[in-house]
Amino acid sequence: MTTIEHSLTRLSQPPELQLAPEHLSGNILGHLQAFRHDSLGLMMDAFNNCGDIARVRIGYETALFTANAEDVKRVLIDRHGDYSKQTRGYAVLRMVLGQGLVTSEGSFWKRQRRIAQPAFQRKRIAGFGDTMRAASEDLSVHWGEIARRGTSVDVAEEMMRLTLRIAGETLFSQDLSNQSAEVGPAVTEVMHYFNWLFKSSVPLLHHLPVPANVRGRRALKTLDRVVYDIIAQRRASGSGPLDLLDMFMNAYDEDTGERMSDLQLRDEVLTMLTAGHETTANGLAWTLYLLSKHPGILRRLQHELDEVLGDDEPDMMKLRELTYTNQVIQESMRLYPPVWAVARRAEQDDVLSGHLVKRGTYVVMSPYVIQRHPQYWDNPEGFDPDRFSPERLEQAKAEGRPKQAYFPFSIGPRKCIGDHFAKMESLIILATLLRRFTPSLVPGQRIEAETSITLRPKHGIQMTLSAR
Ligand code: HEM
Repeated sequence: MTTIEHSLTRLSQPPELQLAPEHLSGNILGHLQAFRHDSLGLMMDAFNNCGDIARVRIGYETALFTANAEDVKRVLIDRHGDYSKQTRGYAVLRMVLGQGLVTSEGSFWKRQRRIAQPAFQRKRIAGFGDTMRAASEDLSVHWGEIARRGTSVDVAEEMMRLTLRIAGETLFSQDLSNQSAEVGPAVTEVMHYFNWLFKSSVPLLHHLPVPANVRGRRALKTLDRVVYDIIAQRRASGSGPLDLLDMFMNAYDEDTGERMSDLQLRDEVLTMLTAGHETTANGLAWTLYLLSKHPGILRRLQHELDEVLGDDEPDMMKLRELTYTNQVIQESMRLYPPVWAVARRAEQDDVLSGHLVKRGTYVVMSPYVIQRHPQYWDNPEGFDPDRFSPERLEQAKAEGRPKQAYFPFSIGPRKCIGDHFAKMESLIILATLLRRFTPSLVPGQRIEAETSITLRPKHGIQMTLSAR
């Protein structure tokens, strides 16, 4: 672009949006404290006070919250090359995960995605069904004992343990959920470490000699050692079980023939382990919560399980027939999207919702906010799985609801690579457990959504179980 063209473009640019009103900002750090401690509250507040788009100060930086689905499309698809993952949240993730698929960018990411993609195709993922079923069956036996005793369980914790076991077994054929082993607790500790770093507003916190850093680093070292040992054993033996690690080790770039180094394998394995279990676990915990609040919907889902499965296992053929159960999962992720915000940094000036977005601005798009936007959703706060029936989806399309009004797995080139994995896993787990048990909320507890890296039930969700 010539200097004159550049000046003309600048002249024709719309002005920047004014900062959101002071009462939303708090103190000199702008919205930093509010963003760290109640990010969703702040976003909803901004949405209710300022409408679809709000500009706020977060520490030294400016962030734009947009609840406009067209902006989501522009940032994540149309102009994705002008937006990066150089945000504070991703900086925290990089400290722990290094340069894995979630955190890397540019040509390096492209190559890694190309290498990893085949491992996540529906056909390959189907091979993990047995592992998912066996782990869910074991939990079902445990739930049988709890039902007999009449005690309660924290289903959020139960789902976390179950999905961690599945992640460990599908990734590198090891059960990580066993709390007596060192790996399970280390993963849990690393997740706490993530969340602690993410929530903090202290700069360079990770350099301070405080107990949380010491514990977090120790847990990371444990995981590194275990992962590197497994990689070394596999390299030495020349073969291994058909798990994700095996797929990664055998994958190569079709253009260059290049394979992954040990460091790259470590980063990808830790990425899959963390990205792949907490998200699905929280999605399932919120689904169980919503079902227990809506017994009629739960009964309809259980009726479908009885009709479709009878005494059979939920195999791939049967899973396809579980249409209502699938709708329930989709609707739960509309109301409680495990990844509650997707953030990017503008690397070029741009225009969103008619306002100038200066280079360096963070753009935050929240599935939680957009998936409850009354412009896109009738009765947005209501739990109504039928809105995902083929007829209702067709109707919404005809009425002009943009596709991007629903994006729990994100959209565009950086869309979740594990979406089929997560959907299949969620279906198998729900089908296995809910055909046998009816969970009920223990009365009197406080259920609150907490925004850490994922959207999780802050105090857990206690439920009793009755055998059907
Ligand atoms: C319900 C469960 C899940 C949800 C809601 C979810 C959501 C997401 C979202 C929103 C992103 C995009 C983040 C961004 O661009 O800022 C993402 C990326 C990713 N997810 Fe998931 N995810 C889930 C399960 C999984 C599973 C099971 C795996 C792996 C086994 C996985 C692996 C990944 C990876 C590797 C990326 C980065 C992809 C890339 O940038 O190329 N996710 N996920």
